Amino acid sequence: MPVSATSPREIIIKPTKGIKGEITVPGDKSISHRALIVASIADGNTRIKGLLKGEDNMATLKAFKQMGIIIDELGEDVVVHGKGLRGLKESEDFIDAGNSGTTIRLLTGLLSGQEFFSVLTGDQYLRKRPMKRVVEPLSLMGAKIFGREKGNKAPLAIVGSKLKGITYNSPVASAQIKSAILLAGLYADGMTTVTEPTLSRDHTERMLAYFGAEVERSGTAVSIAGGQKLSGKDIEVPGDISSAAFFIVATLITKDSELLIKNVGINPTRTGIIDILKKMGGQLEILDKSEVSGEPVGDIIAKSSKLKGIEISGDIIPRAIDELPVVAVAAAFAEGTTKIRDAKELRVKESDRIGTMAANLGELGITTTEYEDGMSGSVFNSHGDHRVAMSMIVAGLATEGEMRVWDTECIDTSFPGFVKKLSDLGCRISQLK
Ligand code: S3P
Repeated sequence: MPVSATSPREIIIKPTKGIKGEITVPGDKSISHRALIVASIADGNTRIKGLLKGEDNMATLKAFKQMGIIIDELGEDVVVHGKGLRGLKESEDFIDAGNSGTTIRLLTGLLSGQEFFSVLTGDQYLRKRPMKRVVEPLSLMGAKIFGREKGNKAPLAIVGSKLKGITYNSPVASAQIKSAILLAGLYADGMTTVTEPTLSRDHTERMLAYFGAEVERSGTAVSIAGGQKLSGKDIEVPGDISSAAFFIVATLITKDSELLIKNVGINPTRTGIIDILKKMGGQLEILDKSEVSGEPVGDIIAKSSKLKGIEISGDIIPRAIDELPVVAVAAAFAEGTTKIRDAKELRVKESDRIGTMAANLGELGITTTEYEDGMSGSVFNSHGDHRVAMSMIVAGLATEGEMRVWDTECIDTSFPGFVKKLSDLGCRISQLK
């Protein structure tokens, strides 16, 4: 990948060993979105501690400010002055979700049942991602949503309407689809039920219950009755296991490393990464488990490990969906072949993550064959995808020679301070501009 003088932010990584110490990671992105959304439509105030202040969550926060919700910053905390189920007002301008799929899809559900008109859009990457997966079930509820490519692509225009509850069998295990329908269900007449092929992350269900809603769950089905009152309540967001994953893999694949990551969310719908890495031979343990604001939390300790290739497929995929790029990096450093199947959803993430990771890791292999010193001079492209960028940086820590990752501004969508955190741990990493 050629690097010109106008290249977006580039990061240089040199081989590192001995990642040692204790860290925390920023707040969980999925939980942060839900905290802002549910607090805005609850009655009364909610103080959120540990909210992730990455670009994705700030897009959600700005959206609610545009719809008349007062949100104050109190030091590190954020206070949302909720106005109740019918307290949002029509935004004067379009709502920009930026790069955030969760923002656009969850808000499409929430705004379908309002008594006003909304337009939602996003950046060049988000505008290419499929929206039919939420538009279709919401339309069955009576939503009026219009968009490019017959309603499949943003910008989306939503004419708020009267909704009715539905029973929906989702063809994909997707928390964004499930959550969009549940949020619309809050505004619908009667009961709304979503069933998934396997359970996706359940933060919306937990958050609604935490704010006082009755949410019925049975296997992979979840139901909610419309018109329920939510009450504002202080909330603490745990560290994001998806962000911790980069540090866990970095520790496992570098020599003489041992790292303790404190206060990480260990919701069972998210801990597929731990199960996968343990199965690969990773020395990992979860300590001090507890429950905070309705979510399980613990500390994770990881040590340098000799990893082996495994097969990864089936129900574990949705439990590790965002971590599969960094699993691919772990697999590249493992002995033997790792096969990842049933992960078609990766093709419609922030980038086509099967394509981008295969290309990047393929290049890693090719360069290693071509040059005796392995990786020298290799430059990798994130394709604007934060998780691909961070995964390749982790690969660089355990690779001989210097590695460069290009187009890394996207890291700020989910993990501002990622590079500093690695450098504070002694990793040889620097930013070109
Ligand atoms: C998310 C759900 C997942 C995940 C995304 C965040 C959420 O997407 O990949 O990063 O917060 O609901 P899908 O619902 O598309 O699987």
